[in-house]
Amino acid sequence: MKALVYHGDHNIALEERPKPTILNPTDAIIRVLKTTICGTDLGIYKGKNPEIADGRILGHEGVGLVEEAGESVTQFKKGDKVLISCITSCGSCEYCKKQLYSHCKDGGWILGYMIDGVQAEYVRIPHADNSLYKVPASIDDEIAVLLSDILPTGHEIGVQYGQVKPGDAIAIVGAGPVGMSVLLTAQFYSPSIIIMIDIDENRLDLAKELGATHIINSGSENVLETIQSIVGDGVDVAIEAVGIPATWDICQKIVKPGAHIANVGVHGVKVDFEIEKLWIKNLTITTGLVNTNTTPMLIKAVSANRFDLKKLITHHFKLGEIEEAYQIFLNGAKEKALKIIIDNN
Ligand SMILES: NC(=O)c1ccc[n+]([C@@H]2O[C@H](COP(=O)([O-])OP(=O)(O)OC[C@H]3O[C@@H](n4cnc5c(N)ncnc54)[C@H](O)[C@@H]3O)[C@@H](O)[C@H]2O)c1
Ligand SMILES: [Zn+2]
Ligand SMILES: [Zn+2]
Repeated sequence: MKALVYHGDHNIALEERPKPTILNPTDAIIRVLKTTICGTDLGIYKGKNPEIADGRILGHEGVGLVEEAGESVTQFKKGDKVLISCITSCGSCEYCKKQLYSHCKDGGWILGYMIDGVQAEYVRIPHADNSLYKVPASIDDEIAVLLSDILPTGHEIGVQYGQVKPGDAIAIVGAGPVGMSVLLTAQFYSPSIIIMIDIDENRLDLAKELGATHIINSGSENVLETIQSIVGDGVDVAIEAVGIPATWDICQKIVKPGAHIANVGVHGVKVDFEIEKLWIKNLTITTGLVNTNTTPMLIKAVSANRFDLKKLITHHFKLGEIEEAYQIFLNGAKEKALKIIIDNN
């Protein structure tokens, strides 16, 4: 089968690989229909994760058909259309019992990282009963792909951890696919003000279309002054969806007393945490890796057409063109790329 294989820093290639087989009775083999490239995959490509083995097939988001189910799999059978969660979970360990699936003792984020992933014709999914979800006919395959990672990430680690409430003023720093997912799912909870902050004008314009009440270009505007002019003391919730010191700094400076800072971005270096200014502010600061515990709820919300998700999808490629797709996504700002769908047919 064709698969996108990692060979180290800036070295990926589309190669011929053997089709995966069932290794444990709880596994399922999925014929991948559609997948995508995540910001996290770009990080891997750029050498952020040297721990990944040479030869690993990348990718952790996708939708497909069950090709074969192991003998202990009870929830899925050959031919079922399934959403592949970016998080694999056993459902029975200490962390799974607390719904902290991302910390599953025999799972977590392993796909396209510790085990072969979904940027391929077929993928083996361990603990299939807990790691796959049936896709209702009312959801398009390419929309379903957005439910593997970005929508639950934005919803759980941004909106829920940030405790967005009706009437709140919230700020989202980072208008990438994850920040846009925060923007969309925050609207379940009716905040009155949603400020999107980024340096990419195209993405800011799209944020406005998707429900942001205000946009700020932090590359050209004074963020603090603009926030003050909109909300006075600061926002009730600041959500960090970039993962660099500069954007953490924006979040810690724009919150009012009693606020929440929800960090979603994956950070590679230390930040300057201004505890000497913040200790007095009665803040709640949260961090985390997506658990995908709200995926079933999001599937229902998406199938009820609650979101304008098509606008997040900017490009389509065939699996045979995936190396080119990586190059387009690497130049996301210039190419106006947000979410790229890779089609296996
Ligand atoms: N916590 C989790 O479970 C989880 C899951 C998935 C992704 N992530 C992380 O979330 C983050 C966002 O993911 P994404 O796919 O949307 O990434 P992305 O790179 O597509 O988007 C990041 C956005 O930040 C903007 N940006 C960059 N520098 C900026 C600055 N100085 N000021 C303001 N904006 C700036 C970019 O223009 C871009 O629009 C990444 O760090 C990713 O690894 C976390
Ligand atoms: Zn992802
Ligand atoms: Zn577990």
